[in-house]
Amino acid sequence: MDKQLIRLRINGEVHEIALSPNRLLLDALREDLGFTGSKRGCDDSSCGCCAVLVDGTPMLSCVALAASYENCKITTVEGLGGPGNLDSVQEGFAEMGGAQCGYCTPGFMIATKALLDRNPNPTLDEIREALSGNLCRCTGYMQIYESVKYALERHGSISSSVRETPSTQAPAVR
Ligand code: FES
Ligand code: FES
Repeated sequence: MDKQLIRLRINGEVHEIALSPNRLLLDALREDLGFTGSKRGCDDSSCGCCAVLVDGTPMLSCVALAASYENCKITTVEGLGGPGNLDSVQEGFAEMGGAQCGYCTPGFMIATKALLDRNPNPTLDEIREALSGNLCRCTGYMQIYESVKYALERHGSISSSVRETPSTQAPAVR
């Protein structure tokens, strides 16, 4: 299939690359552009490891065609922050043990960032719902919820309902 020149706006920078029309956004990010933070964890759109923000909304890049997102604002986990300039979400996962093997962590961070951007004071149920499309094999989810709480507390906006100790029940898989 012939390649087309497309422009992808990623983490605030425009990248112009030649891609096949059927090139997946995840493959373009990881293999063509070196944004390896997004992971491939499944073959059936169920794990959330590949999530990126597209115009502020979480999207599974493993089922998105890169060419469809020309001129959209794409944010990968690398775009949240870096050494010396961590986002509060990244700090939360680092401080509260939300990342163990770390494979799922970029997807959880992206989902958390999207949640806090649209709802800076979520309840625990709203956190569970927002993260319900992401799977973790390691943490049992409690540390992940604690990581989100840490990020909320960094902003001084934690709600009383979120302060309650979360249960260890894993979120439903969508
Ligand atoms: S790799 Fe995209 S949902 Fe699992
Ligand atoms: S930290 Fe290992 S899969 Fe989540």
